[in-house]
Parts: sequence; structure tokens; C-alpha cells
Amino acid sequence: MVLFHLKTFGCQMNVYDSSRIVGLLAEHNMEPTEDETNADIIILNTCYIREKASAKIFSELGRLNKLYLRLKGKSPVFAVIGCVAKAEGENIFKRAPFVSIVLSSQKYHLLPELLKKALAEKEIIAKENVDNKKGKKTKLSHLINTELSGLEKFACLPVTKNTEKIAFVQVQEGCDKFCTYCVVPNTRGREISRTEKDVLEEVNNLQKLGAVEINLLGQNVDCYNGLDENGEKSSLAKLIKKIAKFENVKRIRYTTSYPSEFSDEMIELHATEPKLMPLVYLPIQAGSNEVLHKMNRRYTKEQYLELASKLKNANPNIQISSDFIVGFPNETEEDFEQTLDIVRKVKFIQCYAFKYSPRPNTVAAKMDGQIDLKIKSDRLKRLQTELRKSQDAFNKSCIGKVMSVLFTDISKVDDGYIIGKNEYLQPVIVKADTKLVGTIQNIKIESASYANLKGKII
Ligand code: 5AD
Ligand code: SF4
Repeated sequence: MVLFHLKTFGCQMNVYDSSRIVGLLAEHNMEPTEDETNADIIILNTCYIREKASAKIFSELGRLNKLYLRLKGKSPVFAVIGCVAKAEGENIFKRAPFVSIVLSSQKYHLLPELLKKALAEKEIIAKENVDNKKGKKTKLSHLINTELSGLEKFACLPVTKNTEKIAFVQVQEGCDKFCTYCVVPNTRGREISRTEKDVLEEVNNLQKLGAVEINLLGQNVDCYNGLDENGEKSSLAKLIKKIAKFENVKRIRYTTSYPSEFSDEMIELHATEPKLMPLVYLPIQAGSNEVLHKMNRRYTKEQYLELASKLKNANPNIQISSDFIVGFPNETEEDFEQTLDIVRKVKFIQCYAFKYSPRPNTVAAKMDGQIDLKIKSDRLKRLQTELRKSQDAFNKSCIGKVMSVLFTDISKVDDGYIIGKNEYLQPVIVKADTKLVGTIQNIKIESASYANLKGKII
């Protein structure tokens, strides 16, 4: 049995890809191991979104290679897949020559064959180097496929054999929005939707295997337009209505939304479909219209506020989470204050905030007016303080309420406690029988901190 250690960086899409890769490799007698020191193959599924993320990949590769040379005197087969693979391509072999395989995310169905080739080659090289007394080393050949193409990987993937209670299903690949700061259109290619049939078959299989929460993934999930059974273009709302019909599916989420693509059909569905969780992840990125325009975000602050209020009118339980970028080129103090202002107005409940990171081959990286790192750090801190306030206020407002919690884990710190997520993805901790892990329970919330809620089963 060949052992592989798979490390995943970045977004939910990579987590999803990794889970499918585990199933794919199992069909080829390759087994996952948690032990990073004892694998025949190391696969890094990588993220390129910010500089820090991609730098981490190279330091991780160096660290692991050194570790293996020290422990075993030889390297495992290294494969770099995902967004760094697509963006850096051949360059990876220059920076880390011990890597054998570089593969983009749309090509990972080719991974088993490439890994087999690389393993066989390693064996031959090791033998040649033992035979060769002069110590002339044969060089490893490098296997690369960083093309971007349609949906062929989905057709090649085996049916998933097991699932967590919370399952992810990719409905769409790529992005056509071309925000000026973002590498995704380059690393994941053009937007393309899977057919309804393909998605529904996957959901059906997952719910039969025990999944109760389905998370639909797409870079711009609102633009989902896969073909339905009549060959007509479907929509995210239509797809969700069909998924809601599966009896075992109790909760449905979708991510990530693009504000100006959010449809009235979806707003209405939030009012009528109880399985649809009332948390909308709606990245705004910035509060100033000037900055939004330079980012090529196709909405204004006013339009965003209108959408937020339409959502809350349709269903008063709805809460909104978001992403922010601070220090975009030419962002002034006044622009930044508008970001703080929008946080106060929308009262987001969980957010991610980032310092703008100039990325290769993006429009914004070439703009004049790049902002000093010190200013970016200062704005990030101020924004995080404001976000924390609004998250804190929301958490406190949950005290006394009854919330529905899907329990997924036994607490590692508090004996006798189990942990789950409520409708809003807040962690909820409860003293209860561990047998309840995997079930959904009504919990009366008794206390709240910034990080989690505590309560009791009612
Ligand atoms: N710099 C900083 N943050 C970025 N994001 C995307 N590209 C960049 C960049 N170049 C953030 C956006 C996006 C999230 C996934 O990552 O906020 O919503
Ligand atoms: Fe990147 Fe913008 Fe597409 Fe999101 S919508 S993936 S931020 S280009």
C-alpha cells in the first residue's frame, strides 16, 4: 500500500478538492496518512490568493524535504497541486527541484497516473544510484499539467464512499468577474457550472451516506446556471429547491455570493425555505464607491445596503458575513472610514479582513498609489476592532434564544462537552452525551463570548 500525506491550504474549494482526491487515490490503492513523516507521497493543495499564502507553500516544501532527508535519507514524491501550481507552473521546479508533479486544480483526475509514474521513476533512480559507484545521479523528470479546461475532472471522479455530517458540493468552477486585485480568474479559469443532474446525484449519494448539511460551493455561486433535465439553464434558487426535497438533508448553505448577482429569486427563497440557513456570506470588500470601482466590483455601497435590507425584510432572522480588503491602491483615510461606516450599518456577524496584497498579473498590482504597509496594518487593526464589536454584540444577543445546533465534535478541552455549529456557524458548546454528536438539537443559549456560545439542550 502506498501512503500519501495530503495538506490543504486556502479556501473551501481546496478542502472540497482534497476530499475528492482522497477518494480518487483510494481507487488506486493509495491510502491517506496523517503522519507527515511517514509518507511515500506528499501532496500540497495550494492557495495563491495572497502573497503570504503562496510563500507558505515554498517554506513548507523546503521544511518537509529537509525532514525526509534527515529521517530517511531520501525525499518522498512531492506533488504541488491547486492555485500555486497553476500560477507558478515550471517555476516551482526551479525553486524546489525535488518536486516531481505540478498540476492545476482542473486536472487533478490525472493525479493517480502521474503519481504512479513518479513513484516508479524514483525507484529506478534509487536503484541506478546504488549501482552507479561513481555516484553520478540520474535526474528526476518533472511532470506538469497546468492547463485550464472545463468540467472533465468531475466526470472522472469516483462516487464518494463516505462523508461527514456536513458535506461540500462544488457546483461551479472558476470566476469571470476579474476584480482587479484577484488571481482567481487566472488560477481557476472561466466560470462554468456543473449540470443539475451531476450535482443532484452527488447530493443524493451524500445524504444516503449520512450528510445532513449540504454546502454548495462556487466562486460566484449566484451565477450558477447548470443545465436542468430539459437542457435549460437552471439557477441557484432552482437547484436549492430540488436539494431541499431530499428528506435527509436538513440544512443547506451556499458560498460565495457576489452582491450584484444576488437574485430576487434567492431573496424570496430565504423567506420560504426553512432548510436554507439564514446566514448570507456576501463579500463587500470596501465601503467606498471609488475603491469599489477601482476594484472592478460591480455595485455601489448604496446598492449593497439596499440588498442587505431587502434580505432582512424578507427574513428578519438573516445575518450577513463578509470579506474586506484594506489598503487597496489609492485608498484614502476617508475611503477607509466608509468601510468602518458600512460595518456599523450592516452589523456583520463574522468577517474576514485582509491587507491588500499585490498579486502577479493582476491590474491592481500595477496601479500607482500602492499603500504603505504600516498604514495597511493600522487600518486592518481598526477594522478588526469594529468587526469584533459587531460580532460580540450579535453573540451577546443570542443569549436566551433557542438555536438549532448540528453537533460535530467532542470537546478536547472540556470533559463531557460536545461542540456544534448553529444556523449562523457560531460554535456552540453543550454538556451532553457524546452520542448526540451527529445530531441536530435545539439549544437554549445561556452565555456568549466573542469566540463561542454555551447553552443547554431543551
Ligand atoms: N489581497 C488581499 N485580499 C485578497 N482577497 C482576494 N485577493 C486578495 C488580494 N490580492 C480576499 C478577498 C476575497 C477573499 C477570498 O480574499 O476579500 O473575498
Ligand atoms: Fe476573485 Fe472577484 Fe472572482 Fe471573487 S469575484 S474570485 S474576488 S475575481
